[in-house]
Amino acid sequence: MKLTKQEKDMLNGKYGYAVKKSMGILVALGEIYNAKKLVEVTSVQIAGVSYDNLGDAGLEFLEELAKDGKVKVLTTLNPAGMDLENYKALGISEDFAVKQRKVIEAFSKMGILPTCTCTPYLIGNNPHFEQHIAWSESSAVAYANSVIGAYTNREGGPSALASALTGKTPLYGMHLNENRKAQVKVKVTCPVKGTWEFGALGKVIGEKAKAKPVLITGIKEATVDELKSFSASIATYGGAAIFHIKGITPAKVSAPKEEFTVTQADLVKAEKELDSECEVDFVSVGCPHASLNELAKLAELLKGKKVKKEFWITTARPTKKIADSAGYSKIIEDSGAKFAADTCCVVAPIKNRFKCMATDSAKGCYYAGAKNNFKVKIMPIEKLVEEACK
Ligand code: F3S
Repeated sequence: MKLTKQEKDMLNGKYGYAVKKSMGILVALGEIYNAKKLVEVTSVQIAGVSYDNLGDAGLEFLEELAKDGKVKVLTTLNPAGMDLENYKALGISEDFAVKQRKVIEAFSKMGILPTCTCTPYLIGNNPHFEQHIAWSESSAVAYANSVIGAYTNREGGPSALASALTGKTPLYGMHLNENRKAQVKVKVTCPVKGTWEFGALGKVIGEKAKAKPVLITGIKEATVDELKSFSASIATYGGAAIFHIKGITPAKVSAPKEEFTVTQADLVKAEKELDSECEVDFVSVGCPHASLNELAKLAELLKGKKVKKEFWITTARPTKKIADSAGYSKIIEDSGAKFAADTCCVVAPIKNRFKCMATDSAKGCYYAGAKNNFKVKIMPIEKLVEEACK
């Protein structure tokens, strides 16, 4: 890989330990993927924030880099293992909290904003069309490449951090136009509405197309919330880092030869697969993190009601703060539902704590089963509120 004089100096330690280590990671990655050079990034989002995933070895790695590392571009974090303010109400132990705070301190010391969210695009870490960025969270990567039209690979935690500390990433994969073209056309022949149905659609398409970029036709409209749900689902069930929806996403793409159709029956089948036989004891909204719109809707639905089951709403702290001033949070909390800001039901240490989780998120269903051993039920947000109040 061709490096500039400054990049060589970075690699040789002229700019300190953290930059040297980071450049080592980026060059190794670039060589594996035959990148010709590095490109500058304008935004970074780092996964691997929960102490549950990092452990002591991960924490040590961060503390080592934090000795002299400073970010070069706007950088935010993926969800942490707990709500950084309200963890006690969510049943997170003090021992875990101590370690999780150390992780956040190490990131903050490097100049990273301790905003822990998988929807950075909703809280101000929002690149524009064709900008090169380095994001980690799979749902945010699919959203950024597809809906925004920015360019990012799905970075691991260490490579995203390396990009933050150097302002660079190797030019390969999703940074190259030839890899972003649609390879499969998908005709959707039924109406799709709501976050849960867009999640089910992502499951159907992801399972058939796998990681190939698709061009989807037949979708007349989609909200930001529906697109974030779809991004999460298609990335989870197929591994895609990019998709195109005719008339909705911004990139100009030509139609590929390979194609398949998605019918009403396919959607119903996917929804059935995500509807286990079980007694709901946990309700969760906010995968990916709930938007202001979703919080407004929840406030409307929960007004004057009392929930009888554990009900978590996962969101970004800045979104929660706006909801506080708008009065939504009080209505939601008066119902007994709990905010879990900064975190999510997958990275929080809640394995085996519940038996059956109801959610509107197809991605949430996948990981609640795979990581936390919960059975799952997918349903629209209105039904989730009814379920929680039963
Ligand atoms: Fe976000 Fe956690 Fe879902 S990171 S996309 S809320 S699994």
